[in-house]
Amino acid sequence: MKDSEVRKKELTRLLSFHDEAYYRLGKPTISDREYDRLKVELDSLIDSDDQLDLFSGTETESNFKAFPIPPLVGDDRLEEFTSHQHLSPMLSLDNTYDETEFFDFDKRLSRVLKTDSWSYVVEPKIDGVAVSLTYENGNLTKAATRGNGIEGDVITQNILHIKDLPRKILSNDFPDLIEVRGEIFMEHDEFERINQERRSLGLDLYANPRNLTAGTVKLLDPREASKRMLKIVLYGLGACTPSGYFSSLFDFHQSLKDWGFPIVDFFSKVSSATDAWGKISELNKFRESYNYPTDGAVIKLDSLLLQELAGSTAKAPRWAIAYKFESERQQTFLEDIQLQVGRTGAITPVAYLKAVQLAGTTVSRASLHNADEIERKDIRIGDTVVVEKAGEIIPQVIGVDLTSRCKESKAFVFPSLCPCCETQLEKAEGESVWRCPNSLCSDQVKGRLEYYAARGCMNIDSLGEAVIDQLVNRSFVKDLADLYFLTKQDLLTLEGFADKSAENLLSSIEKSKEQDLWRFICGLGIKHVGTSASKDLAKAFRSIQSLMKATDEELTSIDGVGTVMANSIYLFFMDEGNQDMIAKLEEKGVNLSLGSVIDDTEMIFQGKTFVLTGSLTQYTREEAGLLIETLGGKVASSVSTKTTYLVAGPGAGSKLAKAQKLEIEILSEADFANMIMLKK
Ligand code: IVH
Repeated sequence: MKDSEVRKKELTRLLSFHDEAYYRLGKPTISDREYDRLKVELDSLIDSDDQLDLFSGTETESNFKAFPIPPLVGDDRLEEFTSHQHLSPMLSLDNTYDETEFFDFDKRLSRVLKTDSWSYVVEPKIDGVAVSLTYENGNLTKAATRGNGIEGDVITQNILHIKDLPRKILSNDFPDLIEVRGEIFMEHDEFERINQERRSLGLDLYANPRNLTAGTVKLLDPREASKRMLKIVLYGLGACTPSGYFSSLFDFHQSLKDWGFPIVDFFSKVSSATDAWGKISELNKFRESYNYPTDGAVIKLDSLLLQELAGSTAKAPRWAIAYKFESERQQTFLEDIQLQVGRTGAITPVAYLKAVQLAGTTVSRASLHNADEIERKDIRIGDTVVVEKAGEIIPQVIGVDLTSRCKESKAFVFPSLCPCCETQLEKAEGESVWRCPNSLCSDQVKGRLEYYAARGCMNIDSLGEAVIDQLVNRSFVKDLADLYFLTKQDLLTLEGFADKSAENLLSSIEKSKEQDLWRFICGLGIKHVGTSASKDLAKAFRSIQSLMKATDEELTSIDGVGTVMANSIYLFFMDEGNQDMIAKLEEKGVNLSLGSVIDDTEMIFQGKTFVLTGSLTQYTREEAGLLIETLGGKVASSVSTKTTYLVAGPGAGSKLAKAQKLEIEILSEADFANMIMLKK
């Protein structure tokens, strides 16, 4: 085989690996720039007659549907989702990082269009997840991902919570059918909030807002998706009936505005490539102020007629190009690699860097993710490394400048012992994270205490990192319960403590005894159990004692609790150390229940899920719901295999049919009332 053939094969394999990582797994392992370089190299190796040109000139829907070869734009489809065939393909864009290439694009167009007067529109390239919204008679009927460009996954339910998503076109003037294209994204604050929660739960962090957005739109449970705040912005036109409804992108953009759709912040119509270049530079200055991440500018022919004349390749239109902005990179010296032990024992290697200015902030630390990542990039202490901000936020070491590597440097050896307690580290099969298995490891204890005291859990004022360090180092505190045994004398021996500060800390610890049950459950730091699961568990089990006794079946019958979480809860309470700790907390009077309005023997609906349908006469929906919850049950809005009873009043429709199909017990309102009276 020719060298170039071997390289072509290699590049094709590499690109398909990275496509899978980016589109389907939502976990890219290289930067966009590196990916683009590989793609450019492959394109240059492919002979021009290899280039597929199926969509050039005027393209009809039917020849599109008969598309005979694999698509060239990646594929995000998952088996669990319903497929939707786009009425007009969702293509990719040709990219460039180079000014000359941008002007070449303009020259190519002049040859194809055979005219020298046309307009461009310039707008931001949003680094989100592409979506196609279908509106029929002005109503949103479907939202789909790009998929393979021809067929996408239907994600309507997962994005309906987006506040700005127009369910209806707010005007009397709209086409019968229209596909509106745009991008779903997540704002930085929301990304940080979610990663912060994951960090405290000991879970892997999302690399950037784009990946988190991609993961969110593909969640199997729309209620989970609705807990993450997504946003949307719209810019593109797919199929439209009647055709000819719009004559230019400028008109289309104006209609989006009139219809009340969220649109891009920067939209400029210009009449030459030179003016477009001016706008690209202007956009680069403003883009930091937008609430979505942008990685470039998109320059498109304004006239839809000229677009049709220019045509498309199988991959991208010839009437548009993306000019990608370089994300800022800096070289700096890697002074050290240190390992951090999280509260779940996860070991995170951190790069300590010679401070460097990067995209507006001083960077002196960067996450190295895990041992595999250090090995793959062969990062060594003493190296000059290249740092970039992933998704423009989190600093990452993206590579090493090998030309300045010192000859004596040695590959970094990931320690086999915990840097804190020297216990042998462990790695579960299929995981890339090393963990310290010693739950008494003082770094883990410190992490657990910080988590327990945090605002989102028990909210213990003045119990911060520095105090916790001293309490653990001096062996005053070995577990959460020890906090409640602290005395003023103990605290006065600590650095920085006097009468007043000691009393303040003791009083906030004392106050925490009255915190809500869900906060306590959350504060225990059980792996996978975050705020919302803690609330559900508190409501369902009403006390730590019943949660401790819960069977796997009872746990998984709760919406949002899957087998992984149930197993983690089970393992936590199986641990004798944790059992002793709970006993000590109880002895000290920490609130471990929801209150005793009803004693445990009255919890007749514990672990049972009800769905109410049809009209009820004896109770209002609210009253029935409240009764069920007070007696330990749960009310769900839709029938599923997790439903225990369907209470059906007159007029019950599809829910009744579904319950019958799933052989779920159906109760009349009278049956339900009897159950409560007889408490059976
Ligand atoms: S126009 C025919 N405009 O970038 C393709 N795309 O890398 C028309 N994107 O698939 C796309 N911002 O998901 C267009 N202002 C913008 C965009 C934009 C982001 C995405 C889009 C596209 C991808 C190509």
